[in-house]
Amino acid sequence: MPRHPPSPVPDFLYGTAWKEDRTPALTELALRMGFRAIDTANQRRHYFEEGVGQGLAAAYRAGTVTRADLFLQTKFTYQRGQDHRLPYDPAAPLSVQVAQSIASSLDHLATDHVDSYVLHGPSSNYDWTEDDAEVWAAMRKERDAGRTRLLGVSNVSQRHLQQMAADAAELPAFVQNRCYARLGWDRAVRQFCRERKIIYQGFSLLTANQEVLNHPLIARLAASANVAPAQIVFSFARSVGILPLTGTTSAEHMKQDLASRNLTIPSEAVQAIESLAG
Ligand SMILES: NC(=O)c1ccc[n+]([C@@H]2O[C@H](COP(=O)([O-])OP(=O)(O)OC[C@H]3O[C@@H](n4cnc5c(N)ncnc54)[C@H](OP(=O)(O)O)[C@@H]3O)[C@@H](O)[C@H]2O)c1
Repeated sequence: MPRHPPSPVPDFLYGTAWKEDRTPALTELALRMGFRAIDTANQRRHYFEEGVGQGLAAAYRAGTVTRADLFLQTKFTYQRGQDHRLPYDPAAPLSVQVAQSIASSLDHLATDHVDSYVLHGPSSNYDWTEDDAEVWAAMRKERDAGRTRLLGVSNVSQRHLQQMAADAAELPAFVQNRCYARLGWDRAVRQFCRERKIIYQGFSLLTANQEVLNHPLIARLAASANVAPAQIVFSFARSVGILPLTGTTSAEHMKQDLASRNLTIPSEAVQAIESLAG
């Protein structure tokens, strides 16, 4: 049984990828601006998790937040997604790699538990494999030991999720996927998630969908609400049940992105955006 009660699910995640030396300062800034949920990964190639921990420590020192105010999410990444800076012994069995990786994450983040622990991506782009089943079992063990409250999977297809379900595996609390408007905003996976009460986290909502950001419908909605096009996209995302991520490096955009929580788009417009490009 989990040692902790489930974490409250946040309404926006601040993403810390690709920030390198700016990671501590941007993490601290995001918390100061009002973000309370942080997404990272123990994958030094794209994330500086230790820097996230430094940003958290600075925010705790400044009295901006306490650990209890936060939702912290990190990930286990297979060796094929890493560079040479591994958080585990690659010769060890996968279950040991998971244990080593999460121990290192807790050390980086100076906490005894994270709120969500995510498999960064399955071992195959096509199937849910035996390796994935081994990693998932190890992740559940970490959850049962109280080192994470919830579990997730990322970069998954509907097929991966169906195979996971057929394997009688416990399904994740979260799916985190890149969300392309031209694929109906990942319609098939979102539908699976809705049916199974899995919370869908969407990333690259802006960067993968430039054509949407520049679309006249979005421009019209933004002008009539006197907001930025990005805010329309985040508000739309929430309206269709997507928990959005943003990794903005700008204080002004952090403010805008958070303010989108108070923006409501008419339901006809939500439907129109959902089928704008796919
Ligand atoms: N699971 C995975 O495999 C995976 C993969 C990729 C990302 N992620 C997670 O998702 C997070 C977010 O990544 P992302 O790909 O969604 O986005 P991102 O790389 O963080 O980029 C967001 C982009 O949108 C811009 N932006 C944000 N708010 C804006 C606003 N209000 N107006 C105009 N431009 C705005 C930002 O520019 P400014 O900086 O100038 O604001 C930036 O160029 C990552 O940090 C990471 O945590 C996970």
